[in-house]
Amino acid sequence: MRRTHTCSQLGIEHVGKKVALIGWVNSVRDHGGVLFIDLRDREGMTQLLVDPKNAVLDHAISKLKPETVVEVKGDVIARDQAAINPNMKTGSIEIKVSDIYVHNVPAPLPFQVDDSADKVNEELRLKYRYLDLRRPRNFETIRLRHRAVKTVRDYLDGQGFLEIETPMLFKSTPEGAREFLVPSRLNVGQFYALPQSPQQYKQMLMVAGMERYFQVARCFRDEDLRADRQPEFSQIDLEMSFIDREDIYALIEGMLKCVWKTILGVDIKTPFLRMPYKEAMSRFGVDKPDMRFGFELVDLNAVFANSGFKVFKTTIEKGGVVKAVNLKGLADVTTGEVKQLEDAAKNLGAPGLAFIKSEGGTWKSPILKFFSAEEQAALKQAMNVEEGDLVLFSAGEWERACTILGRLRLEGAQMLAKRGKITINPNDFKFLWVVDFPLMIFDEEKGGYFSAHHPFTAPVEEDIFMLDSDPKKVRGQHYDIVLNGVELGGGSIRIHQPELQKKVFEDVLQIPKDLVESRFGYMLEAFRFGAPPHGGIALGLDRLIAILANKASIRDVIAFPKTQKGQELMTQSPGAASEKQLRDLHIKVATEVK
Ligand code: AMO
Ligand code: AMP
Repeated sequence: MRRTHTCSQLGIEHVGKKVALIGWVNSVRDHGGVLFIDLRDREGMTQLLVDPKNAVLDHAISKLKPETVVEVKGDVIARDQAAINPNMKTGSIEIKVSDIYVHNVPAPLPFQVDDSADKVNEELRLKYRYLDLRRPRNFETIRLRHRAVKTVRDYLDGQGFLEIETPMLFKSTPEGAREFLVPSRLNVGQFYALPQSPQQYKQMLMVAGMERYFQVARCFRDEDLRADRQPEFSQIDLEMSFIDREDIYALIEGMLKCVWKTILGVDIKTPFLRMPYKEAMSRFGVDKPDMRFGFELVDLNAVFANSGFKVFKTTIEKGGVVKAVNLKGLADVTTGEVKQLEDAAKNLGAPGLAFIKSEGGTWKSPILKFFSAEEQAALKQAMNVEEGDLVLFSAGEWERACTILGRLRLEGAQMLAKRGKITINPNDFKFLWVVDFPLMIFDEEKGGYFSAHHPFTAPVEEDIFMLDSDPKKVRGQHYDIVLNGVELGGGSIRIHQPELQKKVFEDVLQIPKDLVESRFGYMLEAFRFGAPPHGGIALGLDRLIAILANKASIRDVIAFPKTQKGQELMTQSPGAASEKQLRDLHIKVATEVK
C-alpha cells in the first residue's frame, strides 16, 4: 500500500501512529536545521518534518521543491501548542519523516500551483490545464460538478427516468446554431452533423414508449463563443410522456431544490415565480430577467403623447413606445460610463441615448428644454425621480426599446454595485419560469417566420386557430427556467400530431416539402404510428455548475474548455489532417492555410 491515509485525514487522535502518505510537495520552508514541507493530495495538506541530519533522507533533500511527487513514511506527532494551525484541517499534527521516496522531480514550472495563479494569463493556464486543475480550489469545482451530476442522476432515477445514450454522429438539426460536420468515409460525399441537442432522438424515445428519458448529454454548436457559451457543452436533457407543462415545472423545481440543498445546503422556495415573456420584456427588457435588483422599465407613452420633443412624439405616433429606466443614485455617472452606456445602446440599434441627471437640486439634460412643466411633473411622478438619480430613455419599436433599456439596466446596476450603492448577491437565488413565448418570430430581413424555440414546440391549444391567419399571436407551450439573469434551461410541450407538425414545417415555417421529407420524414412517419403526448426540457449543466460554484465563466467549471477561438490549448486542437486522412475522406482543403 502506497498510503495509509490521505493528506486530510490525520489528527491528534493518530499521534504515535506510523503512517504512509503520498502526494505533491506544496511548499518547503527551511527553519535552520529542519525542513517543514506541506504535502498535498486532492483531499488536503499535511505538514512533514524532515531532519536533514537524518542520513537515510539525505538522497532526497535537494529534490524537495514544489510539485515534486514524493512518498513518505513516518510517525504522527503532535505539534507544539504555538505551532498549531487552526486554519488547517491537519493543523494539530505533523509527520516526522523516517523514509522518503521521490517519484518525479518537476521541471521549472510555468506558474506556481497556488492561488497566485489566479493572476496568470488564462491562455497559459489552459495550456498547462493539468497544473491549473491541481490547485485545490479548482479540484473542488470539479468535485462539485461530479456531486451535482450525481444528485441529478439519483433524483431522476427516483422519479422513474432512464438514462439513455443517443448518437453523437447525427444529421443536420434545425436548432439555429451552425453545426459541426463530420465527413463519412464509407458514404462518400456525405456528412454527419454533431447534435446541437438530442432533441429528435428523445422525441423518438417517447414514440418508442420509454415514457421518461434523461441524459447528461454532450451538445455541439459552432457559434460565437462567450463566457457562457462553449462549442461543446453538456445538458441535463429530459423528456416525458403523458404530461403537461405543470408536470415539468414541478419536476424541475424538485430537482433544483434537491441540488441546492445537497450542494450548497440552501433551501430554495418553490414553486418558482412565473412570468409571461411579454411582462419580462416590458418590465426588465430581457427574457431572462435578473430579479435581484429593481430598476424596472417604465412606459412613458402617456407622458409624452403630445411632447414637444419630436423624437418621442413621432415614435408614439408611429406605434412605438417611449420607455425609461431610473438608475437610482447614478447621477454621478462619469463621462466614460456615459460613453459605455451610449455604446451599449447604439450596439443594439438605438439612434442615441437621451438621459436626465437629477443633481444639485436640478435636472440636467440636453432634452429638458423640450419638455413642458406638466411633462416634467408627470415624468417625475412616473419615474419617481429623486436627487441623485439617472434616468435613461429609449424610444422606438417596443421590443427594441425594451431590449436597449434592459441592457442599460444591467450595465447601470453593475456601475452601482461597483460604487457599493447596491449589492448583487451571488447567494441570492431568484429563480423564475418565463412562459408564454410567441411560437414564431417574424424575421424582417428574411421576410419569414422562424421558431422561437424549435419547430417541435406545440402551440398553446386555444391559439392554434390563429396559425394561418396571425402566426405572430400564437403562443408556444415553451418555458425557460431563469436564475439571476442566466437562462439555465428551456423546453416545451411538443407537437405529437403528424398533421399539425407538417403544417408548422410547411405552411408556417415555409420549409420546402422535399426538405421536410428528407429532414423530418421519419419523424412525421413515426407520429403516424401512435405518438404519445410528450414534452421535455434541457438545462445547461455548465451554467448550472458555474452558478453553484460562483464562477464568472463556464470555462472555469469544464475540465478542458475551449477558448474564444474554439481551441483547446493543452492538446492544441483543432489541428491539420494528413494528406492520407483527407484522401480517405475524399476531401480537399481549398483555401491555403496561412
Ligand atoms: P436550448 O437550445 O434552449 O434547448 O438549450 C438548453 C440549454 O442549454 C444551455 N446552452 C449552452 N450552454 C453552454 N454553451 C452553449 N453554447 C449553450 N447553448 C445552450 C443553456 C440553454 O438554456 N433541445 C432543446 C431543449 C428542449 O426543448 O427540451 C434545447 O437544446 O443553458
Ligand atoms: P436629437 O434631437 O436627435 O439630437 O436627440 C436628442 C437626444 O435624444 C440625444 O441625446 C439623442 O442621443 C437622444 N435620442 C435620439 N433618439 C433617441 C431614441 N430613439 N431613444 C432615446 N434617445 C434618443
